[in-house]
Amino acid sequence: MTIPHRAASPGQPRVTFPDGFVFGAATAAYQIEGGTHVDGRTDSIWDTFCRVPGAVLGGDDGSVADDHYRRYRDDVALMKRLNLDSYRFSVAWPRVRPDGGDANQRGVDFYSRLVDELLAAGIKPWVTLYHWDLPQALEDRGGWADRDTAHRFTEYALSVHDALGDRVQAWTTLNEPWCSAFLGYAGGQHAPGRRDPVAALRAVHHLLLGHGQAVTELRRRDPDLTLGITLNLTHAEPADPRDEGDVDAARRIDGLHNRIFLEPILEGRYPADVLEDTAQLDWYADVVEAGDLETIAAPLDVLGVNYYHGAAVSAHPHDDLVGAGQVYPDRPTGSPFVCSEHVTFPSRHLPVTDMGWEVQPWGLRELLLRLDKDYPLPPVYITENGAAYADELSTGGTVEDLDRIAYVDSHLRAVREAMDAGVDVRGYFVWSLLDNFEWAFGYAKRFGIVYVDYATQERIPKASAEWYAGVAATRSLDAR
Ligand code: FCB
Repeated sequence: MTIPHRAASPGQPRVTFPDGFVFGAATAAYQIEGGTHVDGRTDSIWDTFCRVPGAVLGGDDGSVADDHYRRYRDDVALMKRLNLDSYRFSVAWPRVRPDGGDANQRGVDFYSRLVDELLAAGIKPWVTLYHWDLPQALEDRGGWADRDTAHRFTEYALSVHDALGDRVQAWTTLNEPWCSAFLGYAGGQHAPGRRDPVAALRAVHHLLLGHGQAVTELRRRDPDLTLGITLNLTHAEPADPRDEGDVDAARRIDGLHNRIFLEPILEGRYPADVLEDTAQLDWYADVVEAGDLETIAAPLDVLGVNYYHGAAVSAHPHDDLVGAGQVYPDRPTGSPFVCSEHVTFPSRHLPVTDMGWEVQPWGLRELLLRLDKDYPLPPVYITENGAAYADELSTGGTVEDLDRIAYVDSHLRAVREAMDAGVDVRGYFVWSLLDNFEWAFGYAKRFGIVYVDYATQERIPKASAEWYAGVAATRSLDAR
């Protein structure tokens, strides 16, 4: 395969990755599958949320998406052509246990066929159990703010293991519980669209509890599984390191974004400063029961890290703010940053992606070094990294997304630097294989290395796909 594409950032050396380093791509069920009401699947919270006027740009929803539910065979063939070692996908809870009730054979059969197809193509399946599509019926009973949802999650996890456990070795319990809890229950930008800070903190705990219980039960069934969780972590820096207010604001964001998950999972306790910051909400005593933290700290084989951008954090008003810090600045919703009302996210005038997210590859290196320094860290996989750009299909039918190539190249170099400094990183999954339903942004943001023409469902590998196929085949980045 020829790899003609270079983005302009000269002077970078050729870089190689060790044998066995996994190059993959990631997707999530609701973002690509479509077929939301076939074979017994019932509503998830995202089906419901998409019906709320104004909740999703353009009134988009996931009912058709990339039609992957029907086209999965072709999609696996494409993955093979792109030399992927592994494919990280999520299982839709409302397919496997519609309404959170009994197991649905037709639902699990889809994933069983997908796994067979992947294995036949020599691609390692990597299952994420929960990528945000809670059965609506469980939300109606309190959702993640209710402890029972953690138990229902564990049951569901075992149903998926019943169906796939003989062929799938790598399991991620939750994808980005920060988004589920804070965007879903405090900010209201994500399903279920609630704006209740106490519910968000309760959700944090019940998500973590569900994770810990599922890990414990899966481990009991099969000690050889590779079990982990995926967190979206950020590198929060004070906008002005000499300003005490900024330093404290960065501490609070780091606490609510990173440490509120890392510490319970890896060390069996909630961070004292976060408990203090949120004490006024009086949530902890009602929610955390004896033994929960031991369950949550069940040993893990891997930590999945999703990284898109870092953040400068300030306690002062600034004229120029970035989209990432504001989360969805153009939407009239609440703040997901519970108890951090006076925090701002000033722009550093770095290049930004189509999401308004600053491109800061060295933030990934710093994040990995810090994780390694501060925690008893299992091996790490970068389970998501990538960028949305306003891709255009040329008249010749190609997408020359050199900006995305530069983004992925620079972040892979940052990963390699962290590895050179001793961090045990075992793989990298680009987000995403396909353009897809980008949550509150609908189909307006394109993250794929493969372009999807939504009118015809045609898949058109972008320049970045051909480039990434070369990286995966050679395990190296060319000098640039
Ligand atoms: C992450 C999500 C993923 C996708 C990317 C852009 O937060 O896990 O589904 O939306 O962001």
